Amino acid sequence: MTNLTRPYETFILGPVIMKTVISDHTHTILLNASNKVRKSKKLKLKNDYRKNLAGNLTEEYNFNNAFTPQAEKIVDDELRALAAFFTKTVSNVQKRHFEVPVKDIVILKPGWVNFMKPGEWNPQHTHTGSISCVIFLKVPPEIEAENRVSELSKKSNTPTAGRIEFNYGENIGFTKTGTMHPPREKDIYFFSARLNHLVYPFKSKVERVSVSYNFADKTYAESILEGQGAAAWG
Ligand SMILES: [Fe+2]
Repeated sequence: MTNLTRPYETFILGPVIMKTVISDHTHTILLNASNKVRKSKKLKLKNDYRKNLAGNLTEEYNFNNAFTPQAEKIVDDELRALAAFFTKTVSNVQKRHFEVPVKDIVILKPGWVNFMKPGEWNPQHTHTGSISCVIFLKVPPEIEAENRVSELSKKSNTPTAGRIEFNYGENIGFTKTGTMHPPREKDIYFFSARLNHLVYPFKSKVERVSVSYNFADKTYAESILEGQGAAAWG
């Protein structure tokens, strides 16, 4: 039977990941802020964020004092709007109400930037907050090409050089427990902050730049502070 003519429904469990792209303007602002931190002797030292992060990287910096107020607002407004759209998308896919209006979404500052070089990696980890995003600012094509041409990867049934992977749940058959993606410039992924994810190393002598932000539901955060038990998000 290739088609079912009677009505049927499907029900999906588990996390939903949403990928879209950031605007050119936000891309430029984030790239400039990332380079500013790295080039400033003071910020490079002060914003070193490695103690707070799982990455096995030599350069990870937070964005404290990296933006002008105007530039920061442009980034924040775009990211909060996209995070709100993510909650709407999850609601549609899961057929359950998870939607959070943009006014109730707060960014848990600071965001941070990863400068990833050959041989560096990000082991499986989760984030804090309710929702997280990762944005790819600079992705040299040599990295994904490794999966097609390098002796290490090209014959593997699981080429992974430089790819990002999300994992969840048990393999009980007819179930997808992971998804892996080649990062592309300007791509932004939204996911539940506590979803396990990792980034595999690459060998090409290039550098990849990515950024992460975490978000929380303001109503939820306030309800905790006020000692109220009800939470909008599980
Ligand atoms: Fe992460």
